Amino acid sequence: MTAVVRDYGLVGEDSRLAIDRGLVEAEWFRPPIDPERLTALQVRTNARAARDTILWLGLLGVFGYLAFRALGSWWAAPAFMAYGALYGGAGDSRWHECGHGTAFRTKWLNDVVYYIASFMLLRQPTLWRWSHVRHHTDTIVVGRDPEIMFPRPSNLPTVLGVYLPVVLLPKAVWRTIKHAAGRIDDDARDFIPTDELPKLKWESRAYIAVLAGTAVWCVAIGSIVPALYVGLPTFYGAWLMVFFGALQHAGLREDVLDHRYNSRTVYMNPILRFLYSNMNYHVEHHIFPTVPYYALPALHQEIKQYLAPADSSTISAYRRIFATLRRQWRDPTYDDPRPDVPEVSSPERTYVNTGLTAWAGDVHDGMIDLGPAEGLAPGSARRVDRGDATYALYRLDPEDLDPEDSGEGDPSSEFVLSDGLCTHGQAHLAEGAVLDCMVECPKHNGCFDLRTGEALRYPATEPITLYDVTLRNGRVVSRLAPRDPVT
Ligand code: FES
Repeated sequence: MTAVVRDYGLVGEDSRLAIDRGLVEAEWFRPPIDPERLTALQVRTNARAARDTILWLGLLGVFGYLAFRALGSWWAAPAFMAYGALYGGAGDSRWHECGHGTAFRTKWLNDVVYYIASFMLLRQPTLWRWSHVRHHTDTIVVGRDPEIMFPRPSNLPTVLGVYLPVVLLPKAVWRTIKHAAGRIDDDARDFIPTDELPKLKWESRAYIAVLAGTAVWCVAIGSIVPALYVGLPTFYGAWLMVFFGALQHAGLREDVLDHRYNSRTVYMNPILRFLYSNMNYHVEHHIFPTVPYYALPALHQEIKQYLAPADSSTISAYRRIFATLRRQWRDPTYDDPRPDVPEVSSPERTYVNTGLTAWAGDVHDGMIDLGPAEGLAPGSARRVDRGDATYALYRLDPEDLDPEDSGEGDPSSEFVLSDGLCTHGQAHLAEGAVLDCMVECPKHNGCFDLRTGEALRYPATEPITLYDVTLRNGRVVSRLAPRDPVT
């Protein structure tokens, strides 16, 4: 069979085709889920993320120490292997979770771990933040997703090149050098906002400075040992990152708006799940990216009836992957079949946070009725539509309210009304997570302050408008008058 050559670049023919076919920034399938259960699953805890981070860094320190003590003997090899796997392998899922901002409850803790792990993986933080946003928007859509691991048609050398990894990392080094020189490639320009591009130059230069400093140290002492701890582990530990990463989407269907067909959930033992931060529940993560990694097993139990059966083990998943990749060498149109994806009787979009949409129509004394206050639990949201306009109505947890903001016990201070759509990408905010007086967008984890409307977290940068809201006879009402904008 003649290979169909597709353009996996982000500015080529397949990019245009993806737009024409309605695959770009599209609506994706979401299974039904109990809104209260989802709210509970979205809760973050610093304690759990701190425990796992300390364990990860602690193991890194222990194996680094053992490797140092074993220098000059063969025992150094397994010790460095474990050190590298934790650095260039397990670092990947820490990078990922903290990039989503879901690991820790406290924002700056996510940021600190994200920057450390980004360096370990030689990923410029800004480049990869936006790359991953695109990956979630257009997951393995050819011409749109910059994180497709196995472009088709693959062959033995290209697959080995990913696993060894003799292709990806030299490419990453070269890209870092080019970006440090201010030569930003077209693919990066396609998914990074223009005003963010200058950061790439400085982040790349900072990386090169640290790596060059390590190289100078090596030369000064006539030993490669410093580089074995900083820089080289990105390469010799990357096998674990690839080992896990390939499980996510390899061989699965391209260009489909349903994560059940293009992502893979695999059961793993607790040690692998620790190293991989539960990202083996990858279908669940893509459908509900606001759920932190430690709640993914519970999310899996909630929605598994709507998903294809999970692969029973890493070995069985790899058997299927290699069988599929082998067939794709001959037939690039072949996909890992997913015959067991259940039909969902009402596949229309489900407003998961509330289970309902209120249509605001009644007007009394100029106040528009947004529905009963009762039934909107603290920490949840409801979509409200009026004509062509759509809004999100939130009820904040009274414990999160500052006494000064809480109107001295005025219950209406718990209610907030905002624009319905995220200012980044048109996702409905009523489907997001309401946490700590913020709403987190269900699509890319952008955050907005529900006291001011301010955008608090990338990729959202523009504020949302907040509207007046009060209670009358147990119902939430509003004039839909915008509150003062953020100054
Ligand atoms: S759609 Fe991207 S952060 Fe909301």
